Amino acid sequence: MIPVALHDLLAAIALAADPDGTTPFEPVAPTSNAAHGDYQWNFAFRLAKAQRRSPRAVAEALVGQIVHPLVRKAEIAGPGFINLTLDDVELARLLASQAADPALGLPQIGAGQTVVIDYSSPNVAKRMHIGHMRSTHIGNALYRLHKAAGYTTIGDNHIGDWGTQFGKLIYAWNHWRDNAAYLADPIGELERIYVKFGEETRRPDPEQGEPPDSPEVAAHKLALSAEARAETLKLQKGDAENLALWRQFMDVSMAEFNAVYSRMNVQFDVTMGESAYKDMTDDVVARLKHDGIAEQSEGAWIVRFEEPSLKNSPVIVQKRDGASNYTTTDIAAMQYRIEHWNPSRIVIVTDGRQQLVFNQLFAIARRQGVTVDLVHAWFGTLVLPEGAMSTRKGNIIRLVDLFDEAVARARLKVEELEAQRAERGQEAFLTDAQKDDIADAVGMGAVRYADLSQHPQTDVTFSWDRMLALEGNTAPYLLYSYARLVTLLARAEEPADPAAVRLVDPLERELALSVLRTPEAALAALRSARPNLLADHLYDLSGRINRVHHDLPVLKGGEFRGSRLALLDAARRALRTGLEWLGLRVIDRM
Ligand code: ARG
Repeated sequence: MIPVALHDLLAAIALAADPDGTTPFEPVAPTSNAAHGDYQWNFAFRLAKAQRRSPRAVAEALVGQIVHPLVRKAEIAGPGFINLTLDDVELARLLASQAADPALGLPQIGAGQTVVIDYSSPNVAKRMHIGHMRSTHIGNALYRLHKAAGYTTIGDNHIGDWGTQFGKLIYAWNHWRDNAAYLADPIGELERIYVKFGEETRRPDPEQGEPPDSPEVAAHKLALSAEARAETLKLQKGDAENLALWRQFMDVSMAEFNAVYSRMNVQFDVTMGESAYKDMTDDVVARLKHDGIAEQSEGAWIVRFEEPSLKNSPVIVQKRDGASNYTTTDIAAMQYRIEHWNPSRIVIVTDGRQQLVFNQLFAIARRQGVTVDLVHAWFGTLVLPEGAMSTRKGNIIRLVDLFDEAVARARLKVEELEAQRAERGQEAFLTDAQKDDIADAVGMGAVRYADLSQHPQTDVTFSWDRMLALEGNTAPYLLYSYARLVTLLARAEEPADPAAVRLVDPLERELALSVLRTPEAALAALRSARPNLLADHLYDLSGRINRVHHDLPVLKGGEFRGSRLALLDAARRALRTGLEWLGLRVIDRM
């Protein structure tokens, strides 16, 4: 990968110029304009400021030291930018070595280290909703990226399978269940009675102008809640009947979740939900008390924080009735993971509304002496526009229905492409089974890519037309670019020779640079927990592939044929690997 080789050289130069090492190093960045070379290095400005010298003078001192086979030209531009142009022969050589590496030259920064990725984590007895779909997409992409970078990866599905919702559900089950409906659609019936419990106990909202409950109604609601709490307590004390119900609800939910995961091509290494930690929470609280981290407040045990951002947000770790909560469970989970897996990094993927919860958790962990790199990879809301789904039950969108819709729409796209080929006089070349398979890859890929190609920390609105478009930054465009490339390379009939690449045309050079930047983009995505950085890059890469494909003769390229085929084959591998890191299923024809 270019920057690593360059990075080390420049880091050494920077250090020599700044012997006390007080000025933070600044790495090179790709230039946006080819006239400024391939990479730009702006470190001179930082150093000049610290040393109170002119940036130009500092740049002049630095530039002379940049002597490396990879760097053909290092020039100062403007007040002190250093522009680097890389050597074509060396670029071609790097391309060949990247082609020989299944990790695509991705630096193995995780070698010998373990990372835990806590993602998806839906709640039992409710359907997975689209928020959990985002967590699953993002978490799974981060999982794949860490694995590719050499980490031992533990994907952990921290499902919500314990707590007060079960008392409500057990009460509802005992009083309101409809056996026939349960047989026909178990999770749907559980959801119905759970929702009913919520409605039966809902307090009127005066701000919405709702009149207060009559004393009888209010008393009834209180009684229901009390009964549900009693059921929860019975469950927690190990009551056989309630435990059996809990297991039954678990089985029903896991079946639903697993159906979703198999469609999404997602597997977990462990599924340790909240219940896995239920016997640890008393010890957790005892330790927090013993270490003076938790203090008593109105009968409950809480943790207060010094950090300005958390000063007004103490968190309860043990309620007045002795029960633990979400945070207590997460402290236990943290402890368990560190003891059993010794990770250097723990990444937890949830929506942005849990930022406070995880800031508190991480602050507690720090106070307990945890030094692991803790990351809360949070994301914004995903919005489906009104009427986006033809199948809707109540207000809840089943993920499997969403997937079916995506695949059905993708199937129409596949037919469209086939019809276009027929119009051009080409023979139909896809069987029905192939069309189904392609539609699955394209439809599921479109949903996934529409999510992953956005900055995670923004709200995303789904649009079928946009995500299924054959043009623009979409899965169908990327997958189609890939498939056409495969077809082209297959027509060549001879294997591409990675050593044959010679960069002659500017379009070839740009493509080579883009191919080489793939691991760079993957690393940036991994480090910032932003898969969209890789997605953006793959879009750029596809554009450059298509330009070479269209604007330069390849099969009829004469003396350049071998070189172009090899370059395009390297690009094909980069595109395929990058898409797979994002969790897309790549297909060879479309
Ligand atoms: N079950 C939670 C939810 O649906 C997410 C759990 C995330 N992981 C964790 N360790 N708390 O929001």
